[in-house]
Amino acid sequence: MQSYLRFIEEILIDEDRLQQRVEALGAQINADYSHATDLLLVCVLKGGVLFLTDLMRHIHVPHAIDFMAISSYGAGARETSGIVRIDLDLKQNIEGRNLLIVEDIIDTGTTLAYLRRLLLARNPASLKICTLLSKPSRRLTDIPVDYIGFEIPDKFVFGYGLDLDELYRSLPFIAAVNPGMYAHE
Ligand code: IMP
Ligand code: MG
Repeated sequence: MQSYLRFIEEILIDEDRLQQRVEALGAQINADYSHATDLLLVCVLKGGVLFLTDLMRHIHVPHAIDFMAISSYGAGARETSGIVRIDLDLKQNIEGRNLLIVEDIIDTGTTLAYLRRLLLARNPASLKICTLLSKPSRRLTDIPVDYIGFEIPDKFVFGYGLDLDELYRSLPFIAAVNPGMYAHE
């Protein structure tokens, strides 16, 4: 038996639903960017990696990819502090480019609000946000989100890029943590 099974309260989104939705998001992005001559997907590490690699297979307009890693202090036991640290920055100049941020989940919105402000200050031609998951009931900062895979309830989730203390990112589905079986912070 695989050890993560006892941490699962329920499978919120199974593999079929996930893959169908990712394909649909790709189709929407293809339509929206059909006339764009440039598209740069900015993946937020590490959680966004599985989503990015599946999503980009459905994006047929020419696009490049790049990565950022950010960590936000205070997330977890208490509310996010709003202080965000850049651990890895983009490797290229984004002035005049069409950016699409690819993120795993928007919780309070603090991290993405910071990232959005930071990237807008570098004068891209456009900036949109694509998140696989969103927890609208947790939002503290109102940020414009252009593509949302699924809205989910206020539960801690893992799988498909999202981790449980750095583990289980490779699972092909999104599961909600059983709070009784897993003490998070
Ligand atoms: P925010 O700044 O509160 O929106 O936090 C967003 C970040 O918190 C995400 O990019 C994730 O890294 C992490 N996060 C929030 N909720 C979850 C969850 O349910 N599972 C795993 N990571 C989460
Ligand atoms: Mg993230």
